[in-house]
Formats: sequence, structure tokens, C-alpha cells
Amino acid sequence: MIVLGVETSCDETSAAIISDNSVLASVVSSQEIHSQFGGVVPELASRAHVRLIVPVVEKAFKDAGITKQEIDGLAVTYGPGLVGALLVGVNYVKGLALALNKPFIGVNHIEGHIYGNLLSQQEDVKFPIIFLIVSGGHTQIVLMQDHLTYTILGKTRDDAVGEAFDKGGKLLGLGYPGGPEIDRLAQEGDPEFHRFPRAVLKNDTYGFSYSGLKTSLLVYLNGIDEQEKKVHLNDICASYQAAAVDVLVTKTIKAAREYKAKQIGIAGGVAANSLLRSQLQLACDKHKFNLYLPDLVYCTDNAAMIARAGLEHLKRNIVSPQSLNAFPSLILESAV
Ligand code: KG4
Ligand code: ZN
Repeated sequence: MIVLGVETSCDETSAAIISDNSVLASVVSSQEIHSQFGGVVPELASRAHVRLIVPVVEKAFKDAGITKQEIDGLAVTYGPGLVGALLVGVNYVKGLALALNKPFIGVNHIEGHIYGNLLSQQEDVKFPIIFLIVSGGHTQIVLMQDHLTYTILGKTRDDAVGEAFDKGGKLLGLGYPGGPEIDRLAQEGDPEFHRFPRAVLKNDTYGFSYSGLKTSLLVYLNGIDEQEKKVHLNDICASYQAAAVDVLVTKTIKAAREYKAKQIGIAGGVAANSLLRSQLQLACDKHKFNLYLPDLVYCTDNAAMIARAGLEHLKRNIVSPQSLNAFPSLILESAV
């Protein structure tokens, strides 16, 4: 089966074509314009998607060396995300599906991230699997008993972990997004230089809270002078990152043990974080879990992951009606 995927939920305009588990083309155009504002400006994102969607999709077909008639279906992110940005992809794909007379599938962005991980694996996924979803907008632990079947065990009550990285980066005077920068600077730092808090939530075993971590960084920075901040920037990044990652690893392992899952996967932009990957690998080795790590290109937003999730729907004949609309606050639900 050949599927076109389109992703426009935030600030990447992306199109990909996959044939079963192989990626024939993957085009990701990242909108540079937002970096000067220190975050994504929704209206600018929508306008850039409108400008980029056609050339990005055309390039995907050219790279794959196939015609539009050769695809079996089209998949598009319809939520969660920025409404104006989502609308561009959804309307474009609905129009193209109608013109080609092919089925189209609206895909949940989080489900896409999960399938971005599975796209990176050589073997077929084994269930049950615990997924840790860590992106700029989401932090959740999900149990999957089968394909397209999700039980959310816990999620963040306030900021997502990616947001904690980005807001932390801003407080430290780093560029946007802060996550990759903190990761890079932390490589040369001491994670025990300062102990930032790890949030433990009463009666919410798999819940997270990241707003306190960001505030504790602000309070800490207000208490030191510019010189100290400069000299110890790597150490502060390493300590902050350690606090953010610690809780993720502990709760993911706990969930896998409780739900007797032998497999653990991570997905979303923060799955690119080097400390999270290494710490989780250590913990999985210790507790004898099989860790599914996504390739770095399939961690941050891309359309190959959307096409891969769409293919799983298409295989089961689960397709969307032309009345499907963008849904900014869409939550992850089982499709079967
Ligand atoms: O999944 P994604 O591309 O977009 C959303 O769906 O939100 O995730 C973007 C997030 C940003 O917060 C970014 O800072 C974070 O992923 N990120 C990282 C790393 N690479 C990307 N955070 C920590 N370490 C990284 N290496
Ligand atoms: Zn994402």
C-alpha cells in the first residue's frame, strides 16, 4: 500500500510518501521565521503553510518517483495543533482526495508520533507496549494492547516537558527551540551541580507537572549573578535536563512493570533528547525491557509518521468523511 502523508499542525510543513514500512519520500520544511519571536506565531505559521503546501507535496511525489494516481490513500493530521495551521493541511488533502477519488484518513498527531517510532523499527511491534509521548505540547504515558488501541495512563497537568525545555531555554537566554540547545550544552555540564525539583503527584501515579521546574529555574537564576550564570551555563543546563528526564524514566518503567509490558517506546520531539535515550536504555537493560527508540528524523514533526499511522487505518478500512474538520484539542482515542 502506498500512502501520502501531510503534516501542518505547528511550524513544519511536511509531506511524505510511504510504501508499507519504507519511506519513498519525506519532505520537511521548517519555518525559520518563528525563531526571531522566541516561539511559534500562529498566524505566521498558517500563512507559511499556505505558501509551502503545494511545493512540498509536489517535491514528495518527485522524490518518490511516482504519480498521484499510484497512491492508495491520503493521510493528514487533523489535531491536536494550531487551528489555522491544521486547516491548511486538512483542506488541501480533502481537495486532493476528492480530485483523485481516493480515500483519506484524518490522523491524530500523537498517534502519528507513535507510528513515527514504529516506522524506525526493523521488527514488527510486539504488544503490550508502553509509550512515553514527549513533545512540545504533550507529555503522557500510553498503554497499547494492539495497533490503534490506546489507554492514556497519565499526562501532564500543566506544561509539557518540551515546553519546560523551551521556556527554560528562554530563561537561560538560548535560542528557540531551547530543547536541542539545552541537550547540547548539557553534554559538558555536571548534572549534580544544582538539584532542581522532581514533581511527585499525590494519587496520580503517571501524571506529570513541569511548571514548577521552570519556576525553580527562574528563582535560581534570580539568585545568582550574570558571571556565575555564564561560567556555569553547561552545569545549569545539565542539572535542569536531569530533573526533567528523571521523572520521565521512573514513571515509564513503573508503568511497564505494572501493566506487564515487555516493550517500551518513546515518541515526540523530546524523544531526540540524548539523556532521555541513554537513561531509559540503562533502565530498560536493568529491568529487561525491550526499548524501541525512534530515528532522530522521526522524533520531531514529520509527515512520514502521519502516513505510517494512516496506513494502519487504511489496512482496516477506517477512513474519514469529507466533513472531517480540524480539531485543535483532539485527544488520543482508540480507532478500533
Ligand atoms: O514533536 P515536536 O516536533 O512538536 C510538537 O508536537 O510539539 O516537539 C518539539 C519539542 C520542542 O519543545 C523541542 O524543544 C523539543 O521537542 N526537542 C528537544 C530535543 N529536540 C527537540 N527537547 C530536548 N532535547 C532535544 N534534543
Ligand atoms: Zn509533534
